[in-house]
Amino acid sequence: MQRKTYAVIDGNILTNNIQEIKKKYPDYTYYFGVVKNNAYHHGMKCVVDLIKGGINYLAVSSLEEALAARKYAGETPILCLEPISLELVMDAINANITLTVESLEYTKELLKLDLYDTLKIHLAVDSGMRRLGFYDAKKLEEAYQLLKESSKIEIEGIYSHFATSGVMDPYFDQQVNCFLKLTENIPLEDIPIVHLGRSLTLVNHEKLSFCNGIRLGIVMYGFSQSRKDGKSLQGKMRVLKRKWLQRKYKCSKTILENDLQVSPAMSLYTEVISVRPVHKGDVVGYTTYKVDSDGYILTLPIGYADGVDRRFKYVYVNEGYAKIVSDCMDMLLVFTENKVQIGEKVEIFGKHIPISNVTRLIGTNAYHLFNQISNRVLRIHIKDEEKEEIYY
Ligand SMILES: Cc1ncc(COP(=O)(O)O)c(C=O)c1O
Repeated sequence: MQRKTYAVIDGNILTNNIQEIKKKYPDYTYYFGVVKNNAYHHGMKCVVDLIKGGINYLAVSSLEEALAARKYAGETPILCLEPISLELVMDAINANITLTVESLEYTKELLKLDLYDTLKIHLAVDSGMRRLGFYDAKKLEEAYQLLKESSKIEIEGIYSHFATSGVMDPYFDQQVNCFLKLTENIPLEDIPIVHLGRSLTLVNHEKLSFCNGIRLGIVMYGFSQSRKDGKSLQGKMRVLKRKWLQRKYKCSKTILENDLQVSPAMSLYTEVISVRPVHKGDVVGYTTYKVDSDGYILTLPIGYADGVDRRFKYVYVNEGYAKIVSDCMDMLLVFTENKVQIGEKVEIFGKHIPISNVTRLIGTNAYHLFNQISNRVLRIHIKDEEKEEIYY
């Protein structure tokens, strides 16, 4: 590692997170670990930790991701959430990848293939996201019947995806009802795996009785999504609004607070590569900042090309917080009153700067934050005594 800018991914935390989730929500048979985009940018090696914790199915976006996950997944089944090109179906069968079938047209094309081995598929149903999936009950029924007649295709699952968090939000109930209506003409109870929910569904809602699977993303990576209203005026207003919505739409019960003990597995570090004295009145960087007292500028080899910019506001260095005063594509400039040595470790987020603070400062959420930490940033995967550098 030449450029000492790196994200540490703690595999033990991931394993513990899954164990904790399964302890608190033990009623599912299938716990899907969503590891798309390199496990939310934590690196595919995490698959091993997630399976160790109890994940027994994986979900990814594309066949490329499925093949990358397969290297770490052993025999654990992997579902590809986007439909794949028909000429690649054999590759999916060879790697034991389960495919998504999301339209009658795709079904008919699939059935024209001369499959030499069994292909497992899950039917996707569009209950309101308007992204992928069957949205017509008749077409779904026809596809189901056609697929059922094939000796080479096994309908292993059926799923849908929620568009909203469903917190006192009638759209959640509408989507559940829409799913049940669309699947009215097919025997849901004959399909081995039914999975609708994602992390927020797990923590905000009671288990849907007809589902035996749940797809876990952000919660596995350490975000319990527990919310407290607090005693502030805003908090009280939120409570009132929810009560009003509850009465108006008769929304199903939502659970806001949970005591799920999960922790973020990713932390981000860099180091000081240059230190220079500055005096009150000096301008710094692209003349974006005027120094208002004497001190030092620390140069850090991390910038907006890595996903970090001055909106992050401060870093933790030398046992204290220091202000980010300017940003560039590859570097940040930080002001400190006390001198810091070249080579000093700097935390961007982690133990001293929680991810939730950063997301609040930059006005985003953990999904976006993880995805914006670019591939140029080395991932160091740690597990017990093992440490592995992962380059994309
Ligand atoms: C189809 C599908 N299921 C599950 C997930 C996981 O969502 P979450 O991270 O909110 O649990 C995603 C994430 O984008 C998804 O697209």
